[in-house]
Amino acid sequence: MTRLGTTVDPRAPEYAQARTAALERLTALGAELAKALAGGGEKYTARHRGRGKLLARERIELLVDPDTPFLELSPLAAWGSDYPVGASLVTGIGTVEGVECLITANDPTVRGGASNPWTLKKALRANDIARENRLPCISLVESGGADLPSQKEIFIPGGALFRDITRLSAEGVPTIAVVFGNSTAGGAYVPGMSDHTVMIKDRSKVFLGGPPLVKMATGEESDDESLGGADMHARTSGLADHYALDEHDAIRQARRIVARLNHRKAHPDPPKARDPLHDPEELLGIVPPDLKTPFDPREVVARIVDGSDFDEFKPLYGTSLVTGWATLHGYPVGILANAQGVLFSAESQKAAQFIQLANQRDIPLLFLHNTTGYMVGKEYEQGGIIKHGAMMINAVSNSRVPHLSVLIGASYGAGHYGMCGRAYEPRFLFAWPSAKSAVMGPQQLAGVLSIVSRQSAAAKGQPYDEEADAGMRAFVEAQIESESLPLFLSGRLYDDGVIDPRDTRTVLGLCLSAVHNAPVEGARGGFGIFRM
Ligand code: COA
Repeated sequence: MTRLGTTVDPRAPEYAQARTAALERLTALGAELAKALAGGGEKYTARHRGRGKLLARERIELLVDPDTPFLELSPLAAWGSDYPVGASLVTGIGTVEGVECLITANDPTVRGGASNPWTLKKALRANDIARENRLPCISLVESGGADLPSQKEIFIPGGALFRDITRLSAEGVPTIAVVFGNSTAGGAYVPGMSDHTVMIKDRSKVFLGGPPLVKMATGEESDDESLGGADMHARTSGLADHYALDEHDAIRQARRIVARLNHRKAHPDPPKARDPLHDPEELLGIVPPDLKTPFDPREVVARIVDGSDFDEFKPLYGTSLVTGWATLHGYPVGILANAQGVLFSAESQKAAQFIQLANQRDIPLLFLHNTTGYMVGKEYEQGGIIKHGAMMINAVSNSRVPHLSVLIGASYGAGHYGMCGRAYEPRFLFAWPSAKSAVMGPQQLAGVLSIVSRQSAAAKGQPYDEEADAGMRAFVEAQIESESLPLFLSGRLYDDGVIDPRDTRTVLGLCLSAVHNAPVEGARGGFGIFRM
């Protein structure tokens, strides 16, 4: 065993400062998560309950096995937009009858559960997770369909939702729809395309057009029940496979469907693992309030991997990127973690080699981000930083083992790409509240803009307004700073959630378990041309 030591001192003033800053950020995060939990607020929640209905999260809680975790995804979707935080949909991974499933539930207390542009993004992300990891999908449906005022944003791209359901089915990933209420128009294709459907007496309403629309279209008089009630679909149309008497019965039947799926994970669960030697509580005291102050990512690794046991690869070479092997909840992982922030040529080459090794050995990779990007400057350009950075990005892009990314500090510029940022399709990507991500730091970006404006004025022979420049810099800095923060980025679905650092090991363990539903097979060759 190679046990990582620690130099973190919980009595040191820097530790206290970092911890205070972390706790403040967690309080702010908690306030935003509370908004998602509150759904449509007291009035609509009370009305929903008054109708004898369960809330979206209560439905999920009854669906998953007792005392098992639910890894909620994208809870802050739509943060900072015109739509309520959470985007009227709950998504996540939970265990049903021992099977890890991707569960989605409309929140009918938020504008009738109607789907806005952020709901669509969140739902499509959930489908991607189900497909990549081969997780059976359970949709708990009760939705007013498309949010009509924003239809132009969702109608055309929204067709992908139904396409995904049948493609999952074609790939052998089971799909189950449980209809708790309204599921009309396009929404009717959720049960319509699913492998299994459960409908509830006097509750489910599944029709292409409701009574008013039918009256308009054909003049026919009709009612909800004869057009799309559970009785009709169970006895006459055949769209319902299972007829439930109430919500609890529907959830019970959904659990029985999962029990009969004959689902087999591609890999067996590993044996129970040892906890880290060092206290995960101390993760709050590691990232300094100012991200310009460097910190040793081994202190993070030591608090998330089994037994704090970490075998480093090339520890003396390319030292601003730490690479090495560990297990996390028993699953083997290769870890890449930024140390001093900047990526040089040596770090990039080391990363490319390490990624290839993980692919040869079928070992998932974990990227811990704290980078300001690839090094700039004459010496580094002449030394081939572009081709070496490209080598790392090539390796990340064409690697086939599952990737998990956690933004713990900075994640700027192409460093975000090389460290498997969102566009490089890590299976899961989470951020700590301390993270920041943008094309570059706010001061640098404002400074670059200022230099460009100054040069432009000089080229035109115009005087440069220094006062306006100072105002512009301050404005741009503030804007970029706010756009770099985790709440903003999570609101745009650029991650799968902002997590408490102390939960990192648990969250990653759940993700690693989920990814092992699908075969973990690395690339043997198949990389692009490496520029040497
Ligand atoms: N788009 C935008 N807003 C919608 C909506 C939709 N598709 N469906 C409901 N809402 C809004 C309502 O206007 C209402 O807003 P308000 O409270 O500010 O007035 C709020 O959501 C709650 O709707 P309400 O009708 O009071 O809730 P309900 O639980 O009694 O009924 C529905 C829910 C979904 C059955 C009903 O709202 C409905 O039939 N909506 C339209 C369904 C439809 O035809 N959609 C088109 C599909 S493509």
